[in-house]
Amino acid sequence: KRLVFIGPPGSGKGTQSPVIKDEFCLCHLSTGDMLRAAVAAKTPLGVKAKEAMDKGELVSDDLVVGIMDEAMNRPKCQKGFILDGFPRTVTQAEKLDEMLNRRGAQIDKVLNFAIDDSVLEERITGRWIHPSSGRSYHTKFAPPKVPGVDDLTGEPLIQRKDDNADVLRSRLDAFHKQTQPVIDYYAKKGNLVNIPAEKAPEEVTKVVKKVVST
Ligand code: AP5
Ligand code: ZN
Repeated sequence: KRLVFIGPPGSGKGTQSPVIKDEFCLCHLSTGDMLRAAVAAKTPLGVKAKEAMDKGELVSDDLVVGIMDEAMNRPKCQKGFILDGFPRTVTQAEKLDEMLNRRGAQIDKVLNFAIDDSVLEERITGRWIHPSSGRSYHTKFAPPKVPGVDDLTGEPLIQRKDDNADVLRSRLDAFHKQTQPVIDYYAKKGNLVNIPAEKAPEEVTKVVKKVVST
């Protein structure tokens, strides 16, 4: 299966991806996670991406298309993948089509995590992540067993630098202006499925599993 998870910040893409990846033996490719790792490691890519990310703006199409093209060659991605947070401009969607054409492949389904903007601030400001694994928690909706500590490793949790109400406004603005046209692009192609992302996480998982398996 080759899937795209698309939706605004806090819609649950990164929460559902690990569950669905395990269930269907896919790899999880998150441009956000890859970019944050590059920023933390201060690689040339990270240095270029940091400013836009801190402001909640999109980084350039060329940078993300390059990392995705490379990531898709990973051996464990050959059976299929979940693209989380990519494509989010129409240019990226067109480049993705080219990348897949070269590989004789295509996207099976695009899952649109549909949710009202008004619930996203609470989700974003309450999120805590375990940086090395990408696991995320929420102080209210998915609390860790011990506050501030990862359940599996006992390592400390951190908050993302862009997870505050101010930067969220820019991220949402980018979503509506630049990513909504991508949703329209896939709707026209006919492989878009809307997921009711306001439900509880386990309910969303059920819907996603059903959509992916049919
Ligand atoms: P990215 O990392 O992709 O961030 P985002 O799109 O803003 O998405 P989030 O990670 O915030 O949302 P999510 O849907 O994964 O939410 P989650 O499941 O964790 O991108 C970051 C930046 O990188 C961008 O701003 C940009 O600069 C750059 N970038 C990345 N990709 C790019 C691209 N393709 N092109 C250009 N630039 C790019 O959930 C959030 C919280 O809610 C968690 O705490 C979770 O526990 C909780 N939660 C989840 N589901 C539920 C539920 N059903 N009920 C209650 N709580 C829930
Ligand atoms: Zn995410």
